[in-house]
Amino acid sequence: MTRPIIIAPSILSSDFARLAEEAARMEAAGADWLHVDVMDGHFVPNLTIGPPVVKALRQVTTLPLDCHLMITDPHTYGPQFLEAGADLVTFHVEVEGDLRALCRTIRAAGKRAGVAVRPRTPLDRVLPLLDDLDMVLVMTVEPGFGGQAYMRDMAPKLEALRAAIGDRPIDVQVDGGLNPETVRHAASLGANVIVAGSAVFRAPDPAAAIAALRDGARGGG
Ligand code: DX5
Ligand code: ZN
Repeated sequence: MTRPIIIAPSILSSDFARLAEEAARMEAAGADWLHVDVMDGHFVPNLTIGPPVVKALRQVTTLPLDCHLMITDPHTYGPQFLEAGADLVTFHVEVEGDLRALCRTIRAAGKRAGVAVRPRTPLDRVLPLLDDLDMVLVMTVEPGFGGQAYMRDMAPKLEALRAAIGDRPIDVQVDGGLNPETVRHAASLGANVIVAGSAVFRAPDPAAAIAALRDGARGGG
């Protein structure tokens, strides 16, 4: 089944002193979602955004807020992001606890549940959860920082994931090092939700950057 192409700029690369303007700039540039990188300084060695910032963003944009929780305890904090206005909550498969229950909590709130997998974590950890998921995020860099190089060696994982998903209505998201070139590789292996930080926010013309990512993901460009 072909899923729609979604371009989700990551506000990790935006100007945090001007988040409302940055969100508006992405909306005007044709973004489909805003990707919000949440880091706790524990699961990854960096500390970023919490629920109050998501709540503030919710007031100023109609774009779906795609919250990527790079945190050790999504069981406690996931519900706070839902209350703050997240539309999608993606947690990491490497964390402890009842992940199926967490998926169900997210979906019971009427929101979409995603699970993310670090580059060195086997896909097998994700597969038992597929029926409770709306999206799987295959990290194409080590999570923690923007501006890293795309890992082409995630290809077998992407291929295996697409095959395992089959006809189920599950999105495949890629995150890390995506640009109009690397997106072609990821999309040819079944990725349909494209996160891009530097490639969009550092571009002189974000609308052109988003269009180029979309073209690349469609196999054109
Ligand atoms: C990395 C984050 C990414 C990051 C992507 O831990 O999850 O979303 O912002 O940034 P680029 O596109 O610059 O690699
Ligand atoms: Zn991310």
